[in-house]
Amino acid sequence: MNSLLLNTDGVQIPQLGFGVWQIPSGEAEQAVRTALEAGYRHIDTAAAYGNEEGVGRAVRGCGLPREKVFVTTKLWNADHGRAEEAFDESLARLGLDYVDLFLIHWPVPKQDKYVQAWGALEKIYRDGRARAIGTSNFTVKTLTRLIDETDITPSINQIELHPYLQQREMRAFHEANGILTEAWSPLGQGKGLLNDPALAVLSEKHGRTPAQIVLRWHLQLGSVVIPKSATPSRIAENIKVFDFILDTEDIAAIGALNRSRRIGPDPDTFDMT
Ligand SMILES: NC(=O)c1ccc[n+]([C@@H]2O[C@H](COP(=O)([O-])OP(=O)(O)OC[C@H]3O[C@@H](n4cnc5c(N)ncnc54)[C@H](OP(=O)(O)O)[C@@H]3O)[C@@H](O)[C@H]2O)c1
Repeated sequence: MNSLLLNTDGVQIPQLGFGVWQIPSGEAEQAVRTALEAGYRHIDTAAAYGNEEGVGRAVRGCGLPREKVFVTTKLWNADHGRAEEAFDESLARLGLDYVDLFLIHWPVPKQDKYVQAWGALEKIYRDGRARAIGTSNFTVKTLTRLIDETDITPSINQIELHPYLQQREMRAFHEANGILTEAWSPLGQGKGLLNDPALAVLSEKHGRTPAQIVLRWHLQLGSVVIPKSATPSRIAENIKVFDFILDTEDIAAIGALNRSRRIGPDPDTFDMT
């Protein structure tokens, strides 16, 4: 498993993690156990996913030392004004005494409390209860404001990113500011993308599945990637992506698939609480 360095005190993040959105808490424990047994060492959950308890049970019960598993959770939109309390509630649900990464889930510009929330994340980080802090779904505008008005630059920004939404401007902005890019819905939620004819060609060429081709593309872009699956065979398939390389032509073929089309909500307007 390859790891990348976050801009915080030498913290390393496993480049490929396991996403658990839409896995009910009762099933999350087994799914995360399956992932850890398959070799994943990085789990991406959130307060809003309602499955921190199941994730925590798997992490605590898997037999691996706590420091061998990288755990991310996220602050929900309704909690921007009470981020420390919400963080404590997440820790209690996980049954852990620290997380590796704590993210603001969405900026919710209309609510205009994300700068205040970031102040609380900075305190949590300084107290050592999150080894690193970052954002999710932040734009150039909202990230620039955080960088200008607060002390700590986010270590990572988790955004919707897949071959149909390649986010070139965001990735360049992250790179210029020492922020890692983390791709959510990296497989396009397993819908139309995986049936794209261009991926079928690359799949045939490399003897890999379309999902493996897409995940390999993310890794070669330098992003952190967190595919979700509740299916044991796919959980195993999605981590077998460290033993082949896409060449320049392959990368260009996937580059040509960009449609700048979101599956998920627009971060400028998403305000669900
Ligand atoms: N920060 C945010 O706002 C945000 C938003 C969305 C997601 N996320 C994070 O990103 C993670 C991943 O995103 P996602 O869950 O939206 O989508 P995804 O990982 O792109 O796709 C998941 C879907 O693809 C299917 N799938 C997985 N592996 C496959 C394979 N090898 N072949 C064919 N189909 C496959 C899964 O089906 P089965 O489960 O049935 O196998 C599932 O339906 C989430 O779990 C969450 O942790 C974050």
